[in-house]
Amino acid sequence: MRKPIVAGNWKMYKTRDEGIHFVYDVNDEVPDRNEIETIICAPAILLRCLTRRQGENLRIGAQNVHYAEEGAYTGEISPAMLASTGVTYCIIGHSERRQFNGETETDVNLKLKAALKHNIIPIVCVGETRDQMEHSDTDYILGLQVKLALKGITAEEIPNIIIAYEPIWAVGAKQSAPADLANAKCGFIRKIIAKTYNQEVANQIRILYGGSVNKTNYEELIHMENVDGALLGRASLDSDHFLTICQMTQKYLDELKEKNK
Ligand code: PGA
Repeated sequence: MRKPIVAGNWKMYKTRDEGIHFVYDVNDEVPDRNEIETIICAPAILLRCLTRRQGENLRIGAQNVHYAEEGAYTGEISPAMLASTGVTYCIIGHSERRQFNGETETDVNLKLKAALKHNIIPIVCVGETRDQMEHSDTDYILGLQVKLALKGITAEEIPNIIIAYEPIWAVGAKQSAPADLANAKCGFIRKIIAKTYNQEVANQIRILYGGSVNKTNYEELIHMENVDGALLGRASLDSDHFLTICQMTQKYLDELKEKNK
């Protein structure tokens, strides 16, 4: 059984005080991290103050990292700097960074390797545009993105990586992808991992769905065989909403454990 993940991506939202309040609100309420990983990926400037305040079960992640060890890269943050703030995870290749910051597949691959080298768990985002979907190019695009992101990564490293399938047309939209489509695409990504590596690591890697997930559509999504949790944008900004999704994950897990008894 794969350990479910509820990850929030705050994007460019929340001041220091707002971030601290959120962490104090959820610290004692999020699930046991031996059962479910609960993550908040916060703006870089808040990382240290939030890791200092994270409780037993909540973990803090970053939203981006530079791939170089150090250098003349004004405004960038190195993997060692991130690690020194105490973060556990880092989102890599989010569609907004690909779109607004011109991140390429090569950047994604280099960033992923840099994160792993510093023991930061990468959450790699992949997904197709609406145009690609409408031209039935989704599988081709996903295959390419996954293979290029993981270029040079060994089978042993795969379980330390999280993939988030985020169709760009569903990010920041009114509706999420239908649950069965999310499941099919997460399953397709798992198949690529099986083909590139082996079935055992494909069974281990966690694949999240992201894109307009909320407490109304999450129930169906989390019950999907290949969906191991969610990457939340807007639903992660409100502590009650975030906690409701954590509790739904716990309920799902408890049911599953009961069924497997
Ligand atoms: P959204 O964002 O849930 O607000 O659509 C998801 C994401 O960008 O990860």
